[in-house]
Amino acid sequence: MTSPTQSTVYIETYGCQMNVSDSELMLGKLEASGYRSVDAPESADVILVNTCAIREHAEQRVIGRLGEMKSKMKVGAVLGVTGCMAQRLGPQILERASHVSLVIGPDGYRSLPLLVENARRGARTSSTNFDLEEHYEDFTPRRFDKVKAWIPVQRGCDYRCTYCIVPTTRGPERSRKLDDVVRETRNIVDEGMSEVVLLGQTVNSYNDGTRDFADLLRAVGAVDGIRRLRFTSPHPNDFSDRVISAMAETDAVCEHVHLPMQSGSTRVLKRMLRRYTREKYFECVERLRSAIPRLSVTTDVIVGFPGETEEDFDETLSAVREVGFEDAFTFKFSLREGTPATRFPASETVSDETSSDRLARLIETVRAGVRDSNLRQLGQRREVLIEKEARRGGLLQGRTRDFKTVIVPGETTMIGSYATVELTGTTGSTFTGSFVRERASLPVAV
Ligand code: 5AD
Ligand code: SF4
Repeated sequence: MTSPTQSTVYIETYGCQMNVSDSELMLGKLEASGYRSVDAPESADVILVNTCAIREHAEQRVIGRLGEMKSKMKVGAVLGVTGCMAQRLGPQILERASHVSLVIGPDGYRSLPLLVENARRGARTSSTNFDLEEHYEDFTPRRFDKVKAWIPVQRGCDYRCTYCIVPTTRGPERSRKLDDVVRETRNIVDEGMSEVVLLGQTVNSYNDGTRDFADLLRAVGAVDGIRRLRFTSPHPNDFSDRVISAMAETDAVCEHVHLPMQSGSTRVLKRMLRRYTREKYFECVERLRSAIPRLSVTTDVIVGFPGETEEDFDETLSAVREVGFEDAFTFKFSLREGTPATRFPASETVSDETSSDRLARLIETVRAGVRDSNLRQLGQRREVLIEKEARRGGLLQGRTRDFKTVIVPGETTMIGSYATVELTGTTGSTFTGSFVRERASLPVAV
């Protein structure tokens, strides 16, 4: 029930899926405390900006957006900053932005309703303590996506990759109890969804004290009604044989893995403290591919890491060709205050010009590989889950199990259903398709 006097909240989310999932938890918590969510900051009593700190650029966007909020806010509205940038900068945000009254790090969302009420009475608070027990088990997330559900299974990170701010902003690694994850999965099926994505910073190092990631995959995959099971992002070193077998033997686990490589040069990987070599990475992909036929592999790559030479970069390009990634998120290195990378001598800094040039060459190499692979797949049939309306009118967007985007004609009533689709064309990155009209292929509502 909504009433005209009901307080309203608007959340804007930046960064990774873990942040999206955290926003779902925050919104769920505030709705349970009587708030109604609105989709514009102008009409909100409470505005929350859930932030990312992974690259300088991400922070600059948030700073710009906070500036804009000043003129958009209703008189008497409160503005809060949450997430990784909140954790990193804490009270400095309150000092620098007088219209912000609330700063809450990723482990502080339990007190959100209380802190928001205090802020509405004029208090200005920063809450950035880590809480290693906190998994928000009793929160009911307000899910943004109607077709697939994000399930955080692990918070924090115990690796110390030298470029990465995440261990500082999200603290040490801890896993949720397997039974809690399974309970959430059952609720998701009851809500009408059949695809889940397990989230963690190094998700395959999941361990709740007695059960590991292999156990988790098998348990979630065994929940009645779960048809697609994905996870992001794994670390190559945590793909034990047990985990790979569980992937291969669990029908719901999709034939796609997003496996961050970061660099194809062993020398650079060492300086990144990734704890694997170029060859070890290839070996990991090989082990996965031999267990799971038709596995599609996507990745993250950073260019311009301190000391990266042209030879190192060439090794990245050749690794991209050798693995045959089906897609890659590509980034220019961004030096983050508080990370070990700040200790490399300034003389090793790669200029922005060189980084931009390498990024462009990397993107071209990735695109060429994806285009070739997609062309080879034309004419094949795939199971597609229809996810949403496509940007172009009258069309729908869906995904194959191996994470390819397919655009098909159809009615919005088909969203959430599965269909067999023939891949009829490709733009290079995505496919167009048409429904295959045979028994078992007609879209079936789930
Ligand atoms: N600069 C550039 N890219 C980074 N990433 C993490 N930290 C940085 C940084 N300092 C990238 C990595 C990671 C992805 C989520 O973001 O590729 O896998
Ligand atoms: Fe960052 Fe490395 Fe942890 Fe990933 S594994 S979150 S890149 S420190």
